[in-house]
Amino acid sequence: MKNIILMGPPGAGKGTQATDLVERYHIPHISTGDMFREAIKNKTPLGQKAEAIIARGDLVPDDITVGLVKERLSQDDCANGYLLDGFPRTIPQAEALEEIGKEIGRPVNAVIDISVPEEVLIDRIGGRRVCPKCGASYHVRNMKPKVEGKCDHCGSDLIQRKDDNPESFKVRLENYYKQTAPVSDFYEARKLLRRYDGQGDKTRLQKELFAFLDTL
Ligand code: AP5
Ligand code: MG
Repeated sequence: MKNIILMGPPGAGKGTQATDLVERYHIPHISTGDMFREAIKNKTPLGQKAEAIIARGDLVPDDITVGLVKERLSQDDCANGYLLDGFPRTIPQAEALEEIGKEIGRPVNAVIDISVPEEVLIDRIGGRRVCPKCGASYHVRNMKPKVEGKCDHCGSDLIQRKDDNPESFKVRLENYYKQTAPVSDFYEARKLLRRYDGQGDKTRLQKELFAFLDTL
């Protein structure tokens, strides 16, 4: 069973690694950040609540986020496992997830914590470009699209995320240290945490993750 959490600071490569992991294991990629951005794009009530919070780099309140994840994890496609990306990122969220896992009979069994030095994160966030249509992520230097400014998959014009600016990044990183780093300790105490170095080529980390997750 692969009930997996991907953790790490903004720009650690959670989304990048998640794309390859879900393809290999045929499990859904549940990114709370992607779900919020989709809601913002569709101007739903949730999107309207979350838009300004996300743009400035703050965390969406726990009750809203937990409700969203609970509903998502209860769907049929999670019956054979799931990959959570960017959730939980506070202790109350981690506690709520423990309850949800018991209720649905699919408790978390692996937590991958990707660490990357701050100066590398800044460079990755500054250079990231995303596809507004299909969500694919690129970097102007490290992971260039085949045609500059265009998505490889759907040809759309690439954009910068609204929270990928120096001011919002600073807030995101502070929130990570204050609120999310303790979540790593929460899972370490439960012997579920595995720490990985997210620097260097993405395929090196990918191979390490496959080697471990294949055994689950
Ligand atoms: P979210 O979307 O989760 O953003 P984040 O955690 O800040 O993380 P990122 O998506 O920025 O980074 P990533 O680790 O996915 O990196 P990526 O693979 O793209 O959350 C956004 C916001 O939503 C939050 O701030 C909050 O407001 C809200 N939210 C979400 N979840 C919440 C929750 N649980 N509770 C409350 N609020 C919540 O890579 C980054 C760049 O680096 C890319 O350009 C990529 O191409 C490049 N790159 C990746 N790997 C490598 C590599 N190995 N070498 C070189 N370049 C690389
Ligand atoms: Mg991401």
